[in-house]
Amino acid sequence: MEDSKLLSVRNLRVIFRTYRGIVKALNGVNFEIGREEFVGIVGETGCGKSVTALSIMRLIQQPGEIIDGEIIFDGTDLLKLSEDDMRKVRGKEIAMIFQEPKVSLNPVLKVGTQLKEAVSIADGIPQKSREAEEKVMDILDAVGLPDPKGLMNKYPHELSGGMAQRVMIAMGLLKKPKLLIADEPTSALDVTIQAQILNLIKDLVSKFRTSVLFITHDLGVVAEYSDRVVIMYAGNVVEIGDVYTIFRNPVHPYTKGLLNAVPRIGQREPLETIPGIVPDLVHPPSGCRFHPRCSKAMEVCSKEFPEMVEVEKDHFVACHLFTRGEKNG
Ligand SMILES: Nc1ncnc2c1ncn2[C@@H]1O[C@H](COP(=O)(O)OP(=O)(O)OP(=O)(O)O)[C@@H](O)[C@H]1O
Ligand code: SF4
Ligand SMILES: [Mg+2]
Repeated sequence: MEDSKLLSVRNLRVIFRTYRGIVKALNGVNFEIGREEFVGIVGETGCGKSVTALSIMRLIQQPGEIIDGEIIFDGTDLLKLSEDDMRKVRGKEIAMIFQEPKVSLNPVLKVGTQLKEAVSIADGIPQKSREAEEKVMDILDAVGLPDPKGLMNKYPHELSGGMAQRVMIAMGLLKKPKLLIADEPTSALDVTIQAQILNLIKDLVSKFRTSVLFITHDLGVVAEYSDRVVIMYAGNVVEIGDVYTIFRNPVHPYTKGLLNAVPRIGQREPLETIPGIVPDLVHPPSGCRFHPRCSKAMEVCSKEFPEMVEVEKDHFVACHLFTRGEKNG
């Protein structure tokens, strides 16, 4: 019997074959998203956040390859679907919005044409019908864009960044997807617009009962909007818990470092302040990939990979301080 989770990512492994060697980008990633849950993924640059999102959408391209794992979405392993069936999932069930909204819009088609095409695919109605037009007008109104009629006649380059992101959100939500994946959707926007876009996403997902996977560098955003948090380091998930638990009682040394690096929750700071450098994933550190930077590292840490364990209800961590029951400081 399938569990009630909307999405279960299990043991996901992704590599990129480059001239430097094989980049082991995802090293057995595991996490779940519940129905109507807002999950934030956080971690330093290069830790695998975007690769995780693109894997779920099955948009990993050469030289990248998903070499192992399962992505169970609503009871189906997406990695086993044909490309045709996966296209249907992308057209209707899972929507993704990106950091650069304008890149995701087709520059030569008017905004209205693109939105009507999306609604036509999602609802199986003719693109040129009155019904399609009305649905598009309604959604533009819902995402707070004034003058929907005028906007539909514009080309993407005529929109500001904030407007383009609202159009992308509208396009995503037209599908009434079960899952919305947002990969740093606000980081290219100024702070006021960021807040507006985040509040918009939060409002709309509760209205449309959509689950969200939200990727960000910004712990303030995570604290404010997420139900649960997934902390990633160098291609692994290292800690998962509800947002309150992660901020009150982080247990993984990396998570502790991240939180210490931010003086106050709510303050917007990049997360690049933990001592040491992000590892090269062509030659990742053995055992726990964090061990060269970890002040708590023990002998076992460079030898064995730490499996994920539950330290308290719904709070998971991958660290030898917990796998062996030896509380070492
Ligand atoms: N096309 C590619 N070719 C080679 N390596 C890649 C490619 N795409 C991603 N990688 C590698 O995969 C790893 C994970 O990258 P990813 O883009 O998922 O990081 P990220 O967490 O999204 O970082 P950021 O916060 O900077 O967006 C990195 O080591 C990156 O160099
Ligand atoms: S497994 Fe070892 S090196 Fe890794 S985080 Fe835990 S204590 Fe540090
Ligand atoms: Mg990224």
